[in-house]
Amino acid sequence: MKEYWIKDSSLADRGRKRIAWSETQMPVLMEIRKRFSEEKPLKGVRIGACLHITTDTGVLMRALAAGGAELYLCASNPLSTQDDVTAALVEEGVHVYGFRGQTEEEYYRCLGYVIASEPMITMDDGADLISAIHKLRYGIRTKELDYLKDIVEGIDFEKMVDGIIGGSEETTTGVIRLKALAREGKLLYPVIAVNDAESKRLFDNPIGTGQSALDGIIRATNTLLAGRDAVVVGFGNVGSGIAHRLRGMGARVTVVEVDPIKALKAVMDGFNVEPMSKAARHGDLFITATGDINVIRREHFEVMKDGAILANAGHFNVEISIKDLEEISTRKERISDCITTYILRDGRRLYLLAEGRLVNLACAEGHPSEVMDMSFSLQALSAKYLVENRGKLPRDVLMVPAEIDREVASLKLKAMGIEIEKLTDEQRRYLSSWTLGT
Ligand code: NAD
Ligand code: ADE
Repeated sequence: MKEYWIKDSSLADRGRKRIAWSETQMPVLMEIRKRFSEEKPLKGVRIGACLHITTDTGVLMRALAAGGAELYLCASNPLSTQDDVTAALVEEGVHVYGFRGQTEEEYYRCLGYVIASEPMITMDDGADLISAIHKLRYGIRTKELDYLKDIVEGIDFEKMVDGIIGGSEETTTGVIRLKALAREGKLLYPVIAVNDAESKRLFDNPIGTGQSALDGIIRATNTLLAGRDAVVVGFGNVGSGIAHRLRGMGARVTVVEVDPIKALKAVMDGFNVEPMSKAARHGDLFITATGDINVIRREHFEVMKDGAILANAGHFNVEISIKDLEEISTRKERISDCITTYILRDGRRLYLLAEGRLVNLACAEGHPSEVMDMSFSLQALSAKYLVENRGKLPRDVLMVPAEIDREVASLKLKAMGIEIEKLTDEQRRYLSSWTLGT
């Protein structure tokens, strides 16, 4: 069993300094770390995590380690890993498996090492770790799992799953996958949907991705957003955040939606709303945020303007059909770390960012630490909750307990120096009464 698998140990000093900077922006997680180092709620608990490996993940790992956990971490995306962070974490005793630019085989082998540690808690961003564990336990063979079979050889998966206390999931797409597993009655242990907590979903998804997706596009292209004809596909938590921020930067924004309620909200927020077949004809910049497959595809590429930029902010690289792009192109050219030009038969050029992977993490650094402060505090407190309730929770997708959700929001406000109003006793009575009226 490899102790770690990273790109370059000599980057550790830079990684340590950048994690230290993130710590200054994550007061809630630092407070939890302080409590964890006194109480040791995770003593002796092996945590297997499959997350984007950023400075913020570094701060989370330090908090979990302070709580007494033994940590095994792999990347949740082949392009999102920050190699200086992996080097710093390895020096601190975290078993890290991940580097920027993994092949599919390397990605799954890294996942294999985390599975081979036989984790007692799984922590996912996108559900690849938990999905692999379930497939292995149910004896389902796939090409991806063939990549790691020698690493996990000899493991008794029934016994291993019996030893798993629970899991947590960071993102919408992961929660969708887990709910599908639970619906089929096949989910083998309780999993907390961190994504669905209000102090995550209302901040990380719209505000975090809203800013960092534009950061990724700007870093990759240095394009001017003011005056741009921008098309956002999906007006959910993430897409609405992106659309509002694009407008704030002066872009002319069109929204594409399939849900009538979300579409109506976009209309009443003042956006132009159209089907993709129309938006494809005029957009300069397209950003997908649906968690869905092939939302931009051949029929749309066929009518796009020369020079259109294509970026994805959703979890997987399936939203923009790369297969269709490849098929209708005569050639492609990598013009920078983040831009691939597809040259179509009629000479038009379409620019795909980050190979269709999440642009905020592949072309920038992901969400600002201030937002990850809340998401990762929820992760840390959910791990503690799972341990405290070991054996008592149902094998289902569970909400973060409301007290934890509210505690994270309260700690964040406190750290920001913001005081809020308190209900009077009279108001509390009034708000819980059905007898009072006109
Ligand atoms: P959501 O469910 O709130 O929103 C998705 C929206 O897309 C919905 O309104 C849905 O109706 C719409 N949609 C689905 N198919 C569509 C189609 N074919 N055309 C147009 N609209 C369509 O989900 P969310 O929380 O906004 O997450 C969206 C994606 O972003 C997920 O994959 C999630 O995992 C990912 N995510 C990424 C980051 C990041 O850092 N890049 C952060 C959080 C979430
Ligand atoms: N997901 C989105 N932004 C992130 C970040 N900065 N760190 C870890 N995961 C993320």
